[in-house]
Amino acid sequence: MNKKVDGVSSGEPRDNALAYLQYLKSIGIEYVEPAQTPDNAATNELASLAGEVAECKSCTLHKTRIQTVFGTGSPRAGIMFVGEAPGADEDKQGEPFVGRAGKLLTKMIQAIGFEREEVYIANVLKCRPPQNRDPRPEEVAACEHFLVRQIQLIQPLVICALGAHAAKTLLKTDDTIGKLRGRFFDYHGVPLIPTYHPAFLLRSQQSKKAAWEDLQKLRDKYHELNG
Ligand code: URA
Repeated sequence: MNKKVDGVSSGEPRDNALAYLQYLKSIGIEYVEPAQTPDNAATNELASLAGEVAECKSCTLHKTRIQTVFGTGSPRAGIMFVGEAPGADEDKQGEPFVGRAGKLLTKMIQAIGFEREEVYIANVLKCRPPQNRDPRPEEVAACEHFLVRQIQLIQPLVICALGAHAAKTLLKTDDTIGKLRGRFFDYHGVPLIPTYHPAFLLRSQQSKKAAWEDLQKLRDKYHELNG
């Protein structure tokens, strides 16, 4: 039997919600704040950070970019991939890893049982270096705080650094990617595994086996930590 509380009937949940909103309107309340769950707080903060990135002129790369490339994926992702910097396709589309290397990254993500939308993908630099040259130290220094904030907001269980630039930036080391790959490091309490960059894998078929081993370690660590 339906019970009436303050003019609200306790029937179907949707009918209840509508009736409740009508009731609020009838007493002069026109707007209800959405609940601040940790999920939408992170989403909102990421959106505002993306806005800051879009306005950023801290290094000279803003002069040559078409647009900034913030990051993509789930704000609650358990796995976060960090690449180097946007290339020409990313600069045009505003999304990381959408070119040839990106298509390979998508396949790598799928090979360990995820879709792109379930993980989070970002870069060290948010603007394309002209002619895809290597990021310069002053560009990394100007941009890194955005990546640090992204990691803090997303709180991934595990991070995969794609290539030498991401690994060196996050781990503050000058070791080569050949030496760093395939092992877990501690990034402020988050396990981080470096592997080869997908663009390198497109040129080096023989490195794909090692990258596959790294990805399996990444997947297993995620499942271990996700329970
Ligand atoms: N290479 C990267 O490191 N990042 C991209 O977004 C695309 C290519």
